[in-house]
Amino acid sequence: MSIGGDCRCCVDEEIDAFGEIVDGNGVFKYYADGAWKISSSEESLPVINPTSREPFFAITACTRCEVNKAFHSAKEAQKSWAKTPLFKRAEMLHKVAGVMKEKKNMEAIAECLIKEVAKPDKDAYTEVVRSADLLSYTAEEGIRILSQGKFLVSDSFPGNERNKLCLSSKVPLGIILAIPPFNYPVNLTVSKIGPALIAGNAVVIKPPTQGAVSTLHMIHCFHMSGFPKGLISCVTIKASELGDYMTTHPLVNCISFTGGCETGISISQKAGMIPLQMELGGKDAMIVLEDADLDLAATNIIKGGFSYSGQRCTAVKIVLAMEGIADALVSKVNAQIAKLKIGPPERIDTDIVDVVSEASADFIESLVADAIDNGAKICQGWKRRGNKIWPLLIDNVTTEMRIAWEEPFGPVIPVMRIKSVEEGIEHCNSSKYGLQGCVFTKDINKAILVSDAMESGTIQINAAPARGPDHFPFQGIRDSGIGSQGVTNSINFMTKIKTTVINLPSASYSLAVGDYEYKEPERQLDAGDFEAMRGAPCGYCAMHSLIPSSRLKTPPTTTKLSSPFFLRANTHNCLCTRITYK
Ligand code: G3H
Repeated sequence: MSIGGDCRCCVDEEIDAFGEIVDGNGVFKYYADGAWKISSSEESLPVINPTSREPFFAITACTRCEVNKAFHSAKEAQKSWAKTPLFKRAEMLHKVAGVMKEKKNMEAIAECLIKEVAKPDKDAYTEVVRSADLLSYTAEEGIRILSQGKFLVSDSFPGNERNKLCLSSKVPLGIILAIPPFNYPVNLTVSKIGPALIAGNAVVIKPPTQGAVSTLHMIHCFHMSGFPKGLISCVTIKASELGDYMTTHPLVNCISFTGGCETGISISQKAGMIPLQMELGGKDAMIVLEDADLDLAATNIIKGGFSYSGQRCTAVKIVLAMEGIADALVSKVNAQIAKLKIGPPERIDTDIVDVVSEASADFIESLVADAIDNGAKICQGWKRRGNKIWPLLIDNVTTEMRIAWEEPFGPVIPVMRIKSVEEGIEHCNSSKYGLQGCVFTKDINKAILVSDAMESGTIQINAAPARGPDHFPFQGIRDSGIGSQGVTNSINFMTKIKTTVINLPSASYSLAVGDYEYKEPERQLDAGDFEAMRGAPCGYCAMHSLIPSSRLKTPPTTTKLSSPFFLRANTHNCLCTRITYK
């Protein structure tokens, strides 16, 4: 299945499961209408292995017409899916979670992650398991959230009696366009499509080119689980040609995008009146106070800054260390950097892998060069080979340097020494980003004050920034994003509120015994009405039964009624008094 190497998903027994997603020339198909297809464009796009920098996979390049058809199929499929009982939608998500966790499927997906985005082996497997768990949790959370609505009464608002009863519930948006990034092509796809599907939406996915094959393998698990035809599509495109066409397609009802800031802003400017959920860049600051546990802080700088070579939007992207402890902290971090293993992603003990592309490595290099030119101290010396960049701590960074503000998305961490906690907070809040941040101190009172003052979507106390667990709310402010994610928030985000108001003819108050004032809507009498009233008590004397007027004379069949009292008055006579209620 690979075009350039020894991917483990080529071995015989796995071809059975995933064979249909690739054509005879090794080109990966796109998924639409419940089937795997090669584009009529006959064009393919190479997926470059970041480590070898050689083409490793090839994906088919869909045409505009094929993308359009995927949206139309989604529209049809969504109507039936929205009518599928919630518990069945949840069952389907549990099923696909199980399929993803089957050993051979998990291995096939993880191996693609290793080959096309250089995800380290252990992280690749973790990503698949985490994604399956996310789907199971989404199924359960969806049941909880979507089986409930709200009931409101009108007399809580001034000037109203209790004559309006309002029922509100969550209904699907329609078609969700999911655009995940290269660094989590599996997890950040399921975090969009799981909530979308449980809420009754259809999804069209535009995977990243680098990462597309992992996404396609994961989507095949949905296919094998029997999701309805057309409900899920995964179209591989040249974003430069069809990106705008997809994001502005009239059938799109919501876009969930994770990726670069510029692309996110450009999508939002063109999107029009549809809800947007966006996770963009971050420049997550770690503020280390004088009383911090420095070993803990150093370990979190390593884990938070260097895992997956810093290619996470929640990576620690600047350390703001109080001057009094900065030397000690830097030396602890340097000691741990010396132990990091730099190598290929296939090796189980590799910590630092090649960054995703040459362009990315060039950008990181330009930030480091700028820092050096402006007087920063490079603790390990600069070392790069191809896309491989050796982990680097840059000390004595100042606000004049680009690296103080821009996100490297690589294994490079700047340290800025601060004279006061206010200076650290000020730096954090002056960034155009505001995704996450963290503070290290043993004083919980200080931690809360600093956390409140840092203007970011999430602040971690005594731990590095991280999105998970995947049900926690996750959001950025300023250029870091729009809307909030996390399973619960995404389910809510991918629904809209629909209300139905029951208007009563008169106010009605619960347990207000004796005030019963039912007004039957006016209607014509029929023979059944007279029969039902036979033998009813007299409304005036309450001593005698009434006999229907029909016994005495021709019933007034055209009489209009407005209440039971009038029903009796108009149609009955009291036997003893001979009062005719007319
Ligand atoms: O890269 C962006 C991701 O949302 C970060 O997720 O904190 O689980 O690595 P993570």
